[in-house]
Amino acid sequence: MADESVLPEHVRRNRVRWNAEARNYAAAGERAWAREEPTWGIWRVPESRLGVLPKHLAGKTGIELGCGTAYVSAWLARRGVKVVGLDASPAQLATARRLQREHGLDFPLIEADAERVPCRAGAFDLAISEYGACLWADPDRWIAEAARILRSGGELIFLANSHLFTLCVPAEAGAAAERLLRSAFGMRRIEWPGDPGVEFHLSHGDWIRVLRSNRFEVEDLIEVRPPESATTSYEYVTLEWARRWPCEEIWRARRR
Ligand SMILES: C[S@@+](CC[C@H](N)C(=O)[O-])C[C@H]1O[C@@H](n2cnc3c(N)ncnc32)[C@H](O)[C@@H]1O
Repeated sequence: MADESVLPEHVRRNRVRWNAEARNYAAAGERAWAREEPTWGIWRVPESRLGVLPKHLAGKTGIELGCGTAYVSAWLARRGVKVVGLDASPAQLATARRLQREHGLDFPLIEADAERVPCRAGAFDLAISEYGACLWADPDRWIAEAARILRSGGELIFLANSHLFTLCVPAEAGAAAERLLRSAFGMRRIEWPGDPGVEFHLSHGDWIRVLRSNRFEVEDLIEVRPPESATTSYEYVTLEWARRWPCEEIWRARRR
């Protein structure tokens, strides 16, 4: 990172958080790198069920915004995408580099803030983020950057917690409730007790407005339903809840 002091406060805090957490995420990264078929979200729903990725990937240029251990980038690289992984945390990128060596797969990894991407305008056909910049960066800023670095006709895909889940999850420990625990109006920046990070959660209307004002057309909103046999190590939602209501959602938008 060229000059850390110019980073916005939430980016600095999230960078510190992810540097500290990187060690705990390495094992999950190792398992995901070893997976042949992509799986999505905390329930690891297979690509064959969800159809998240564009059909024709070979030869495309792509960037993962907030790549962490970069397993999504690895899946894309194996499918012929000329991919770049970008993350603000050097510790997360260190794991990604180690996994690149272990799997004999090489693609550029850039330490940078997704709100200020050091790449030229129109450089990419695809931008993707799985619980990366799409959750931890300011939507007005990272969506504007995604619009800048995607060519006209390029695709943006991102996955994070659903709006409904965020309304129902308790601030303290515990799984999502079957009732609304916080207001929908005004939801945006969330800081959870005991967590040094800063997350951003928007309503569907606010997502549509930020996407459209940045020259994106929304093409799909996939509400992820895990299969009956799905398991997760995360304790903030039960399978019973996630089978009844979407706890994760995947936005697909195309740059005009
Ligand atoms: C859940 S993790 C990584 C997601 C990835 N799919 C994985 O599990 O390895 C979220 C990542 O987003 C990165 N991140 C958070 N804010 C960022 C920002 N403003 N710019 C770039 N990366 C960011 C963090 O450093 C962290 O590595």
